[in-house]
Amino acid sequence: MLPMSTFTLFFLVLYAFFSLVTSAPAPLQRDVFVPPVLYPGKGTVWRHGERHNVTWDISNAPAHITNNLGVIVLCREHELLDYEHPLAQDFDILLGRYEIVVPKVPKGSNYRILVFGDSGNTGEAFTITK
Ligand SMILES: *[C@@H]1O[C@H](CO)[C@@H](O)[C@H](O)[C@H]1NC(C)=O
Repeated sequence: MLPMSTFTLFFLVLYAFFSLVTSAPAPLQRDVFVPPVLYPGKGTVWRHGERHNVTWDISNAPAHITNNLGVIVLCREHELLDYEHPLAQDFDILLGRYEIVVPKVPKGSNYRILVFGDSGNTGEAFTITK
């Protein structure tokens, strides 16, 4: 299997993201894994440079998924931040957690984490500060 290009990835993320945001009935494919983000969430405060394990629920993972390489992208409200440099990529999405370093982004309480393999799901809004 060839690795996805950043370009392909970008449109995949956009598709995954906007199909959630618009709540339009997304065409349901077989073997699409949409892991809900468990951490960070409501009440989480991260500081620049800290290391944290982003975690997501793998209990509904299908037995066979077409792409088990995960990507973690930071979002602010419904905007993907620096998707060309995701917080993490090329890890096994079935791990259910992955350690990231909090980037130096402006202070804000409307950040979200997007984790996706074939599709994605953003977590609850949380805060990053200095
Ligand atoms: C993330 O989880 C791994 C495995 O449990 C652990 O070894 C590591 O210390 C954790 N990292 C942080 C920042 O808590």
